[in-house]
Amino acid sequence: AFLGIDLGTSGLRALLVDAEGCPIGSAERAYATHHPHPGWSEQNPKDWIDALTSAARELRVAHPEFADLKGLGVSGHMHGAVLVDESGDPIRPCIMWNDTRSHEEAARLDAIPEMRAISGNVAFPGFTAPKLEWVRAHEPENHARVSKVLLPAAYVNWYLTGDYVSDVSDCSGTGWLDLRARRWSATLLDAGNMRSDQMPRLVEGCTPAGQLKTELLSEWRINHPVIVAGGAGDNAAAACGIGALSEGQGFVSLGTSGVLLLARDGCDPAPETALHSFCHAIPGRWYQMGVMLSATNSLNWLSRISGQSPAALTKALGADIKPPSNELFLPYLSGERTPHNDAQIRAAFLGLDTQTSLDDMTRAVLEGVAFALRDSAEAMKATGAEIKVLYAVGGGAASRYWVELIATILGTCISLPKGGEFGAALGAARLAIVAATDARPEDVMRSPDYCDRITPRADLLSAYDDAYERFKDAYPAIRSVQ
Ligand code: XUL
Repeated sequence: AFLGIDLGTSGLRALLVDAEGCPIGSAERAYATHHPHPGWSEQNPKDWIDALTSAARELRVAHPEFADLKGLGVSGHMHGAVLVDESGDPIRPCIMWNDTRSHEEAARLDAIPEMRAISGNVAFPGFTAPKLEWVRAHEPENHARVSKVLLPAAYVNWYLTGDYVSDVSDCSGTGWLDLRARRWSATLLDAGNMRSDQMPRLVEGCTPAGQLKTELLSEWRINHPVIVAGGAGDNAAAACGIGALSEGQGFVSLGTSGVLLLARDGCDPAPETALHSFCHAIPGRWYQMGVMLSATNSLNWLSRISGQSPAALTKALGADIKPPSNELFLPYLSGERTPHNDAQIRAAFLGLDTQTSLDDMTRAVLEGVAFALRDSAEAMKATGAEIKVLYAVGGGAASRYWVELIATILGTCISLPKGGEFGAALGAARLAIVAATDARPEDVMRSPDYCDRITPRADLLSAYDDAYERFKDAYPAIRSVQ
């Protein structure tokens, strides 16, 4: 058997699978995020280990297959900074991906020309390098004690193997990695006032990072060696879970934020569009990702102020999409990442009139999110990418109306997986299968067995193209008055 561990933002999910990658059982544990000041977001790495210990025990007791565990892999929320001292103990809580305290440090690092040129990305406040610059300025005594900086998944790798080792997909979001060469950049480390001995060893996600340490073998009642894979950042792991490995295969995720991700065979970063370009968890492959910050969050906002549940709002629209609404919603409730990289911008409703109904506003909200995803698709197209296979995942994908709208606005078919496992935990387990056996990634990381295929509405394509032009013109206009 193989184990995939998804260290998520709200909790940990451990998934036990057989040699074919079919689920045997899973266990979940939640943990807290602390916000000691506005904009701060921290977790205690010890909580992750407690969650892992308890979830592993549950799986061991429930499933005899656990005793033949051959490999495991960890997927983690990206960008977080776990600072450890010489004994590997955390010096302070982990500063998380959604912590914005280091925006000034980020702007300073982003202005260094080598940053975008070598890392392939904007130095976002959420990335790791700006966080370390913040610690250097505000907690110099902590900074002086940093023996290693680990991403959340790498901290778990350390707990599992006793070695400091991280995978290149996760480290792509640090601001210290040379994206093309897939190794630490001496120039960027220098710019961030870090030393290469403070970085973990790098491996590819689907290759072994090490072996499960002996204390854990006895705690888990296993009497043979177990391989620990390099693992991955959660988005690369999710891509492995849904079978998005090769050029043009990807997914659109409708969660709190919205993600459009496409696997790429080559490395064609476009930081000027605020696209993320990261190493994939498979050697020689990369992926690109556009992130829009308020996807289901936009619908949740309308739900809150209208007193109707998100499901009731979308259900009221019926099954088939209609021509674009006159009302236009710009979904920048919490600012925007791709393509504007604008933390200050806020949302807008345009074109309301005395006839505007709640249904019209719901349609405009769903359309606004879909247009924002098209912004990411256009930015990717400009780098030479073409969407070949696109899956829809996340809570918002439960609305067929929304998925058909996105298919029409992006002009591409979308596959909706019909239940089953396809997330980051499965991706992590698949990385373990590849690392611990001679199976090839292409054979292990298959696409979901059953999907509904949603096609664009040919009769509405040009109307939505025109509406998208209007959406694009609206950002500079509202920018100038905010
Ligand atoms: C990616 C990002 C998030 C985190 C947490 O850039 O910030 O997706 O990985 O899930």
